[in-house]
Amino acid sequence: MSTTTPPLPGEAGRAQAVRAMFDRIAPTYDLLNRVMTLRVDVAWRRGLVRGVRLGPGDALLDLCAGTMDVAAEARRQAPGARIYGADFSIPMLSRGARKTGLPAAGADALRLPFRDATFDAVTVAFGVRNLEDLPAGIAEIARVLKPGGRMGVLELFRPQSAGTRLFHNAYNRVALPLLGRAIAKDPGAYRYLVESMERFVPRPEFERLSREAGFAEVRGGGLFPGVCGLVVGVKA
Ligand SMILES: C[S@@+](CC[C@H](N)C(=O)[O-])C[C@H]1O[C@@H](n2cnc3c(N)ncnc32)[C@H](O)[C@@H]1O
Repeated sequence: MSTTTPPLPGEAGRAQAVRAMFDRIAPTYDLLNRVMTLRVDVAWRRGLVRGVRLGPGDALLDLCAGTMDVAAEARRQAPGARIYGADFSIPMLSRGARKTGLPAAGADALRLPFRDATFDAVTVAFGVRNLEDLPAGIAEIARVLKPGGRMGVLELFRPQSAGTRLFHNAYNRVALPLLGRAIAKDPGAYRYLVESMERFVPRPEFERLSREAGFAEVRGGGLFPGVCGLVVGVKA
């Protein structure tokens, strides 16, 4: 049983440790997601894909794609779109590619192997919290989007209201570590999930960074039951 916790947002040397952690938990990732969120994550991903308004023939990059549940949802909603996944954890991504049959590239979100203005939309679900350099990650998304292209980011932003913080604390401190231990046999990984959420930026700060990176029409909102946030923006 591993108990190692990768460095948190704002701490140096995260990328390798984060990748090693996802490599480790890949076999149980999907099951744990469903159990931890009581399947609400399925509706969150649906909302994310709706938010980027895919049209027929649009090219979508699902970044930090993991086991590619967002890519699968995008294909359901927009069968005519061209959908690609990218992630730096090959064990996560190869599961996703096998599951969906969609094309996938092993790639670091901070150095994407795509030309400027390649995609009509980029989605990231539960990925930006893991990036070593958040502003650089948002700038890289902007770089690969065409002008007018849509970014959609789903994330467990740092909770702000007292009520949400209370709910978070109770769930995070009690339920998540138990589930992490029982299913993934990796308490370190689920401690990381909790602590990285508490150290990450709140949603309004992410929206501000997105505007700074050149996104217009940036809109954010909380998704039921308030622990998860969705931010969408249009590349100016
Ligand atoms: C919590 S999982 C989310 C997976 C998927 N998007 C989902 O909705 O379930 C985070 C993913 O981000 C990936 N990731 C983290 N940092 C990355 C980076 N710098 N470049 C590429 N992928 C990264 C991890 O390997 C992991 O698969």
